[in-house]
Amino acid sequence: MDTPRFIPTHDTNISDSIELRPVFVQTGEQDELPKFRMPDGPSLAETAYQIVHDEAMLDGNARLNLATFVSTWMDDEARRLYAETVDKNMVDKDEYPQTAAIEDRCWKILADLWHAPEPTNTIGTSTIGSSEACMLGGLALKRRWQQKQKDAGKPYDKPNLVLSTAVQVCWEKFLNYFEVEPRWVPITEDHLVFEGQDLEKYCDENTIGVVAIMGVTYHGLYEPVLKISQALDALHEETGLDLQIHVDGASGAMIAPFCQPDLEWDFRVPRVASINTSGHKYGLVYPGVGWVIWRDTDALPESMVFHVSYLGGSMPTLALNFSRPGAQVLLQYYMFLRLGKEGFRQIQQSSLDVAQYLSSGIESLGPFELVSRGDTIEGDPFDGPVAMRLEVGGSWSTVGRTRRG
Ligand SMILES: Cc1ncc(COP(=O)(O)O)c(C=O)c1O
Repeated sequence: MDTPRFIPTHDTNISDSIELRPVFVQTGEQDELPKFRMPDGPSLAETAYQIVHDEAMLDGNARLNLATFVSTWMDDEARRLYAETVDKNMVDKDEYPQTAAIEDRCWKILADLWHAPEPTNTIGTSTIGSSEACMLGGLALKRRWQQKQKDAGKPYDKPNLVLSTAVQVCWEKFLNYFEVEPRWVPITEDHLVFEGQDLEKYCDENTIGVVAIMGVTYHGLYEPVLKISQALDALHEETGLDLQIHVDGASGAMIAPFCQPDLEWDFRVPRVASINTSGHKYGLVYPGVGWVIWRDTDALPESMVFHVSYLGGSMPTLALNFSRPGAQVLLQYYMFLRLGKEGFRQIQQSSLDVAQYLSSGIESLGPFELVSRGDTIEGDPFDGPVAMRLEVGGSWSTVGRTRRG
């Protein structure tokens, strides 16, 4: 029977059983197990291990993964910490109060790095990654808009969000799952990033906010948050619409603070309500941690915080997930202590340097018309550069185009 279109199938081997290689078969132990049914009885740990180990061995080498920009290497001390703390559940802040305290320290460190005006009045949380963090940022914008509409006795059933067509798929999920209409700003040759152009065409009184991407997934360029904010100021003056920005800094929010400290893209820009980043990208931690921070407690509606009592005391929880690993949060703190600002600067700068070295090499090959120099800031779009996505650990992918005409 054909697999229905919407069910992905990753098993390319059509056999419905798994055979253990003869060299690993233990005396008296079965050498074949069903693939899609739970075996009737237990196996030796060695047998189960060998099967899973051998399957995982067929994956690509993570260190050579160019695609997801996620950390694929941590040092031995980090691995030790990981092994020691892999059993901690981040949500259980009564059982693991020190992990909870360290989570708070981490988002406060990020709030400080991103120039939150009043660090004591800031609020943030770890998440499973930037996707969850973006959903929370988007939801806070939606909730705040709904409340404003309710207070004004206006309809609040047709929210829309302004964002560029180059957003990562997590924003399409947000729009789809939380029923928000997209107001897509197209990416064109004249506008390789969303720069706040034509806002009056896209915004109206149902607009919940605007997304700015710090490090567009496809070419690595930053969207100019300050320029977008200034365009929103002009819109405010002309129309009375007073809109806020969520910065999707999945990559760039862990690059700009170290390598472009004078670039105003963060809470220094007054319209920035919230920022997310992936701890597991340029936060340099293994997969499974993201962060979202709100400028102040006003930017996060209280209705998004739940209080659960069944784990002990009354515990506030603000996330889409409930249980998730605490180890990655501890690893994030380890990386902050281990590298400090100067360590992060050196690592991120060396990535930028390699990107720019490669881009100039690609440029000199001749046939490519380049989009960015791997320096993340848009110059003259057709003045030579190539777009680069950086990968910590020394792997790269490039986006270029063959020359027109
Ligand atoms: C701009 C941007 N936003 C969000 C995401 C989603 O991040 P995560 O994989 O941490 O969920 C990515 C991932 O590449 C991204 O580049």
